[in-house]
Amino acid sequence: MIADLPDGIRESGALKVRKKFGTISGGDVLDVGTEEGDFIDTLMKVLLDYNSFTGIDIVENELEKAREQLKDAPVNFKVMNAETMTFQDNKFDTVCISYSIHHLENIETVLAEMYRVLKPGGHFIIQELYSDGEQTTAQQVDKAVHDLNAKIDTLFGILHFEALTRQRLKDLVNNVGLDEVETFESSWAVRCLFCKDVRECHNPKNADNIDYVLKRIDDDLERVREHPSYDELREEAKLVKERVKMQGSSAASVMYFFGKKKKG
Ligand SMILES: C[S@@+](CC[C@H](N)C(=O)[O-])C[C@H]1O[C@@H](n2cnc3c(N)ncnc32)[C@H](O)[C@@H]1O
Repeated sequence: MIADLPDGIRESGALKVRKKFGTISGGDVLDVGTEEGDFIDTLMKVLLDYNSFTGIDIVENELEKAREQLKDAPVNFKVMNAETMTFQDNKFDTVCISYSIHHLENIETVLAEMYRVLKPGGHFIIQELYSDGEQTTAQQVDKAVHDLNAKIDTLFGILHFEALTRQRLKDLVNNVGLDEVETFESSWAVRCLFCKDVRECHNPKNADNIDYVLKRIDDDLERVREHPSYDELREEAKLVKERVKMQGSSAASVMYFFGKKKKG
């Protein structure tokens, strides 16, 4: 972990969440919607201990970077739809999903599947951004960047929706029927505690940060150059870019849920 964290991150809630992770023996861990494997990488740093990881994603390409990033780690990758997992009941000691809930077509179905494959007494962990609450101006700009990206993904058939509210996330978790649910909110994700760029990133108006976000918007726009909605999206992107230049951009706040599968 970075020794001299900026005060904003120190006070964000991320340290409390890190402490909670540090009480959990992961055992055999399933990560749903693994993409590039960033959450598995974080879990390896924060869990008390673990035995193995299984990372699943519905898109084969998404797992390529994860295979590279985690090539020396005990991770088994599978292309699989989380709505219809092929794992037996009660297989994993821990199941988790990070930043993927707002990418799911049928959220309840995926959460129920995660519950099914979790051992009684096993850990159920969610890390997800949210859209409401007291987010800074720079975080509200990030929401506009995110929503534009989601809109463009959707034009290409990639499932990507706007972030959910905290109440919607709480309702979804309530429906899973977990025991011992603990909820945390943090303005920074736990992974930021380990990021070498944390000091620069902490300043939303950092020039590199602004350049990076502007490039992401331009790249997104490039994807739709031939699309009938291009002119409309270019106007929207222009407004979002103005906001990024004026107010900077900072990742949305994050909600964490820790619960256990009921025993017996
Ligand atoms: C934003 S990414 C996840 C990021 C990653 N978990 C992390 O924390 O860095 C969302 C992922 O969910 C995957 N996904 C969407 N629907 C899925 C489904 N039904 N089953 C499995 N993966 C799914 C997408 O392919 C995408 O890679």
